[in-house]
Amino acid sequence: MKFDACADDKRPRQTSHEKNRMSDLEITHPQIYAYLEKILTEETPLLREMGAYGRAQNFPIIGAQVGRLFYFLARALQASQILELGSGFGYSAMWFALAVGAGGKVIMTEGKQANVDRARDYFTRAGLLDRVEFNVGDALTRAETYPGPFDIIFCDIDKHSYPQALALARAKLRVGGILIFDNMLWHGRILTENDADTRAVLETTRALFDANEFFTTLVPLHDGQALALRVK
Ligand SMILES: C[S@@+](CC[C@H](N)C(=O)[O-])C[C@H]1O[C@@H](n2cnc3c(N)ncnc32)[C@H](O)[C@@H]1O
Repeated sequence: MKFDACADDKRPRQTSHEKNRMSDLEITHPQIYAYLEKILTEETPLLREMGAYGRAQNFPIIGAQVGRLFYFLARALQASQILELGSGFGYSAMWFALAVGAGGKVIMTEGKQANVDRARDYFTRAGLLDRVEFNVGDALTRAETYPGPFDIIFCDIDKHSYPQALALARAKLRVGGILIFDNMLWHGRILTENDADTRAVLETTRALFDANEFFTTLVPLHDGQALALRVK
């Protein structure tokens, strides 16, 4: 099975829209981004190591600014059950696992065995294996096997699958829980492109803002985080 969410590992190829296309970091003004990076504190040494690995491999992880946002949300909600769609090598899941505390659980899903192996190694070293469950395979199929309800569902899989992820989350997120979608500004492509991934991001954004069971806000941090509070 091939997963292409990490196609955005590389700089986008030249297109006629190249001049209009923003890079990941340009969504936040570069100087503001640098300032935000500078004021970050309290990352664990292992998170720093994972972040450095992600940067070195050009692997699209959420980064520390968004990690702190997720930790903040999970702690504020006193979340104990979290579902993650698209876990990569475990960077975002590590922030959630730290936030849920003892007895909490982060259900991880990832299509590539090598990423799961690396994640298992990090969680072993962190002494947090009991807070995570690893699932290898299609995230949506694997997530179907968990009844929920979840306090938080975080979606970071291939963008063309976002509408199906929204349908799944509707069935598994508790009222009062938070649904999070990463890459909702899609490196600026939401302004210029019309490919399947971009259309799926736009469709999901519209559906979230139109849904009366969600109260949604789009935070333009990193590549854009849609935060949807389930209100009914
Ligand atoms: C952007 S990366 C995830 C990064 C991770 N959330 C983090 O911030 O640390 C997306 C990951 O999702 C995986 N993926 C994409 N689509 C998937 C799918 N439908 N099922 C399972 N894994 C998928 C890719 O293999 C990749 O590792």
